[in-house]
Amino acid sequence: MNYNDLVKKAIEARDFSHSPYSGFRVGAALLAANGDVFMGCNIEVAGHSATCCAERTAFFKAVSSGVSDFTAIAIVGGPDGGLVDDCFPCGVCRQVMSEFCGDEFVIIVAESDSEWQKFTLCDMLPHRFK
Ligand code: THU
Repeated sequence: MNYNDLVKKAIEARDFSHSPYSGFRVGAALLAANGDVFMGCNIEVAGHSATCCAERTAFFKAVSSGVSDFTAIAIVGGPDGGLVDDCFPCGVCRQVMSEFCGDEFVIIVAESDSEWQKFTLCDMLPHRFK
């Protein structure tokens, strides 16, 4: 799957965002080495510390389904009605990526299926603890 299509999946996943507290809707699509795609959205909870980001939702769906070898993730986010160009993964999500992925794991931060920036996990989390 190419990155444009992976971003489309992230945009689809964002439709399911449960974000009544922040109003900030995030979607992620995680591409496994076997070609499977795991979609995730952010899920907010009144007790805010229980909130789960879209990226972690996607990772936890995959790992709990027996898949733990990944090549890329696409991320989209923004307030209702629009996507921003800087919905970067939070530090906790980067550490979760680090648990399962190598330095060359690709992170696509997108504002549409044709406008995105490509990073690696090494770019996003240098000198990581593992
Ligand atoms: N959020 C994500 O799901 N992923 C990110 O990359 C950044 C932030 C969520 C967490 C929270 O539900 C909302 O966005 C506002 O921070």
